[in-house]
Amino acid sequence: MAATAHHDTGVEEGVGTTALLVAAARAIETHRPDALARDVFAEHFVLAAPASAGWPTRLQQVPDGDANPLWGRFARYFGLRTRVLDDFLLQSVHTAGIRQIVLLGAGLDTRAFRLDWPSRSIVFEIDRTEVLAFKHKVLDGMSATAKAARAPVPVDLRADWVAALADSGFDRSAPSVWLAEGLLFYLPADAEASLIAAVDRLSTRGSALAYEVKLEPDLMTYRDSPLYTSTTRQIGIDLLDLFAKEPRPDSAGALTSKGWSASVHTPFEFTHRHGRGPLPEENDALAGNRWVFAHKP
Ligand SMILES: C[S@@+](CC[C@H](N)C(=O)[O-])C[C@H]1O[C@@H](n2cnc3c(N)ncnc32)[C@H](O)[C@@H]1O
Repeated sequence: MAATAHHDTGVEEGVGTTALLVAAARAIETHRPDALARDVFAEHFVLAAPASAGWPTRLQQVPDGDANPLWGRFARYFGLRTRVLDDFLLQSVHTAGIRQIVLLGAGLDTRAFRLDWPSRSIVFEIDRTEVLAFKHKVLDGMSATAKAARAPVPVDLRADWVAALADSGFDRSAPSVWLAEGLLFYLPADAEASLIAAVDRLSTRGSALAYEVKLEPDLMTYRDSPLYTSTTRQIGIDLLDLFAKEPRPDSAGALTSKGWSASVHTPFEFTHRHGRGPLPEENDALAGNRWVFAHKP
């Protein structure tokens, strides 16, 4: 991980800027006529942060439109990911009776405001202090109203976040659904392994977890890909510099050894399911991306 990513510089520098990148992608998705997910708050985050105020929030502002690797294909990837994980969370609360939702590395995720949660649901949002402070400033400025109880948990996920979550009211005797969307590849391998072990310890039977990983053994394989080079060139975010480089733990294997079921999917499966989204291409930085859905029976 780059040195800057260790400091809490909010959304202005280091890993925090990636929260703005995803927000911009969701803003663009929101304005598509065939949007896979809509987030009316996303463009307000983008416009409020000096780091992103000049970025596009709709595809019409991008001269080459869908042909642009960053604001076309990569943004659509985030739109698809948002939709698929929205569906996973809603299915967990509506069919499994879960009322505790934990967003790990929540960033500018507005699911607490966007989705229809059953009564008595509570959404725990874990991210670093300055990222959550920025998020609250923008949402407060819009007088946004959440559709569930919300518990922001400002803590670094490399520190003792379990205690911070407990202090925020998390009930480890009740089932929970967990989400690590766009997070694990920024964490050191040992932090990912302890995070997965902690999720297992805090999860009763009937709990669920979805997370995203990158499976390529060497991230640098795709360093010249249109996706990485356009992200660096157009908005100055070098994702490869922010990603942790060490070999990743086998989190799906760790979960199954603890009795969880885990299914591993490519994003492209969901592109086919929804009839829109990114498809595989040559020199594809998305080739190793997997979305994992796990349940503790
Ligand atoms: C790519 S963003 C994804 C945000 C959100 N999950 C989404 O998809 O919109 C990654 C987020 O992980 C957070 N993050 C990265 N490392 C973290 C750490 N060590 N502790 C807490 N949050 C972290 C960043 O602050 C950022 O908000």
